[in-house]
Amino acid sequence: MGDKKRSGKHHDDDEEEINHWQRVTASFKNFPFYQLKKLEEIEGQLKKGLESYPDILDEQLKFITARKDQLMEMIPFISLLVARSPFPPIGQPTDEDFGRVASVMRQFVREWSEEGKLERDMCFNPIFKALSKYCPSSSDSTVESPIVLVPGSGLGRLGYELSQLGYAVECNEVSVFMLLGSAVALNFFTSAEQFTVMPLICETINMVKDEDIVKKVKIPDILPGKSPKASSKSMPKFCLCAGEFLDCYACDCEEKEAEERAECCKDSKEECCTVTDDSVIKKKNPCSTCERYDVIVTCFFIDTAHNVTKYIERIAKLLKPGGIWINLGPLMYHWVGMGDQESLEISWSTIKSISEKNGFMLCEEELLRDIPYCSYHERLRENRFNCIFSVMRMPE
Ligand SMILES: C[S@@+](CC[C@H](N)C(=O)[O-])C[C@H]1O[C@@H](n2cnc3c(N)ncnc32)[C@H](O)[C@@H]1O
Repeated sequence: MGDKKRSGKHHDDDEEEINHWQRVTASFKNFPFYQLKKLEEIEGQLKKGLESYPDILDEQLKFITARKDQLMEMIPFISLLVARSPFPPIGQPTDEDFGRVASVMRQFVREWSEEGKLERDMCFNPIFKALSKYCPSSSDSTVESPIVLVPGSGLGRLGYELSQLGYAVECNEVSVFMLLGSAVALNFFTSAEQFTVMPLICETINMVKDEDIVKKVKIPDILPGKSPKASSKSMPKFCLCAGEFLDCYACDCEEKEAEERAECCKDSKEECCTVTDDSVIKKKNPCSTCERYDVIVTCFFIDTAHNVTKYIERIAKLLKPGGIWINLGPLMYHWVGMGDQESLEISWSTIKSISEKNGFMLCEEELLRDIPYCSYHERLRENRFNCIFSVMRMPE
């Protein structure tokens, strides 16, 4: 896997970035101890709450002891993650950091286990179908592969699958927790089902059966890079760009346009340099970052934006004329209610109008119901979403 690093505004400070990597690595290293502490807290609650039921308490305490022992089974995988980090484990992880490690573990089940296959199929298959309809890849190795960008690529499985289908893929991911996980998933497993994770071992709520709490999940389901297609000569390029989407794919022409606009509008109240025609914003003099991709695939991504209009504008700029944007996901807007953080929350119909203003033409749209996300065991409350699936095209 190639690893492309583009510095963005937020990563100018190298020292801060190194400290962050070190603390992330420490979070993975200390995760089993954090879980042990959580199990001890659960043990305390059980002792208090089940006092009047000594037999059941006894059973539950034995179950806690078994869970503590089972935690050790995750250590080989944790050790690999820590060993493959470019930085040593230094720093004091917070509860939030450990929460992020726990979500990486759940994401490993979604992306890299047999248990995650059903939810992967539900998300990825509509995307693959749209790709083969609107921008098919060719089995002829002399033909240039279409270039696909996958922002918010998580642990890289979608990007990997696309590369297996013959596309040249660039993944983009901001979270160092996910970046470390995807580096391991894509490069450092040595056999299928090499490791065990137990993503629910500290779970206390919405469980149906105690057995589900200790369900072991084997990862990876396949060995990337050693599967038959990947070893063939036609293996297309695959790379990962680390950083925030808008920072990584900022383009010069946007800045130039803003400067020109500021200059031109200096003495006028009107935005005289925004080129509009029938209310559609037109691209002006694309720079080298613009118009590079045949397809952009956003899967459970657009609602990570502080302002989704910025993502739409950037996607429109990055696509080649005639390029395709395939989107699948809910609109749960990750920044909603987060103190003073910017969070624009708009409906799908407004997103469509903004996309049209940026030149997109809607080719397909469907509401996909009950799409699971990291929801592979039966629980009393499941993580399922009604998702918008859409395909839009830029004009030729
Ligand atoms: C809900 S997850 C979806 C992951 C993957 N696409 C999937 O379907 O499993 C969203 C991902 O986007 C990443 N992300 C969030 N904001 C981002 C940004 N501004 N730039 C790049 N990645 C971002 C998160 O770290 C996370 O890995």
